[in-house]
Amino acid sequence: MVDQAVLSQTAMVMRGFEPRMINGDFTGKHIVTVEQFMRDDMRAVFEAASHLRARVLRGDRSLIDVCAGRVMATLFYEASTRTDMSFQAAMSRLGGQVIATSGGVQFSSVYKGENLADTVRAVACYADVIVLRHPEVGSSYESSYHLDLLGDKLSRRAVLISGGDGIGEHPTQALLDLYTILDFKESVDGLKITMVGDLRYGRTVHSLSKLIARYAAQGVTLNFVSPSLLTMPPAIIAYLRAHDITVRETDNLEDVLGDSDVIYWTRVQEERFTNKADYAAIANKFVMLPDALAHTKSDAILMHPLPRKHEMGSPDDHTLLDSDPRSVYFHQMENGMYVRMALIAAVLGAGI
Ligand code: NCD
Repeated sequence: MVDQAVLSQTAMVMRGFEPRMINGDFTGKHIVTVEQFMRDDMRAVFEAASHLRARVLRGDRSLIDVCAGRVMATLFYEASTRTDMSFQAAMSRLGGQVIATSGGVQFSSVYKGENLADTVRAVACYADVIVLRHPEVGSSYESSYHLDLLGDKLSRRAVLISGGDGIGEHPTQALLDLYTILDFKESVDGLKITMVGDLRYGRTVHSLSKLIARYAAQGVTLNFVSPSLLTMPPAIIAYLRAHDITVRETDNLEDVLGDSDVIYWTRVQEERFTNKADYAAIANKFVMLPDALAHTKSDAILMHPLPRKHEMGSPDDHTLLDSDPRSVYFHQMENGMYVRMALIAAVLGAGI
């Protein structure tokens, strides 16, 4: 599956598209992979997010000047609550406007058979920034490539931000996840970070583990806990090891839960399974219940990109888990808005 990712991304690179490294300057750069970021770029996003958070919390009304007169389009070919709405809220709080096809993408010309390249370029005629979520790996690369090909055909150049491409990557989620880890842990050095569940199809863990590697912290261990059918793609494991991350893979949670500093739980991505019997066989393999959380380190944090289903037990279990101070997924969600505010302002070159 990452082979598919590598293939479609390589195809784009061969056609001349390579996502540009941020290198301290976000303006006009499409955001499609965490591989564009170095530690200083992440720090810049996090500092901007904290600054914007402080401005939101003190009710700073001049925030709406940051993106006044700018337009963001949301183009979501896959279901979303958090990514979609946090981007919308982010742009609204910065004073920009948000557009989308009335009635959702199923009522756009996609319904008439228009391809992604044409739809994205139509949107680029109207918006300054486009947030794309799409089920195909490499879709954000392909879209960025076609936007760049347009060149001077348009009087303005729209910037694309990936909101998740299939089972590939989810770069903005990774940024908000790392921002949240730093909120609670202050440093990433020496942390034991455990990711549990669907590591094969879960794009959040693909991006987060690579982003942690790129952050170049010292002495980080990544524990990957999953059923054998859902292990982390070998290409990502190799990437992490090449970046001096200690990687441990197991299907036994007890091996690692007790001394984990960060526990990142994930949903089994039911919609990605072609064989529903495979899904049924592993759907309940790893369930985080209040008892298990009680036996983790007292200063551990429990994260989840959400949405959650039975992998956190019943709704009653959810309530108990939520009341544990170790659970930080609501912080994660809220942080998503601040991080996305920072990113939107950055790619639009809007000063904060
Ligand atoms: C995740 C996603 O869409 O990849 N959700 C999110 O963006 N917060 C995780 C998931 O759907 O399980």
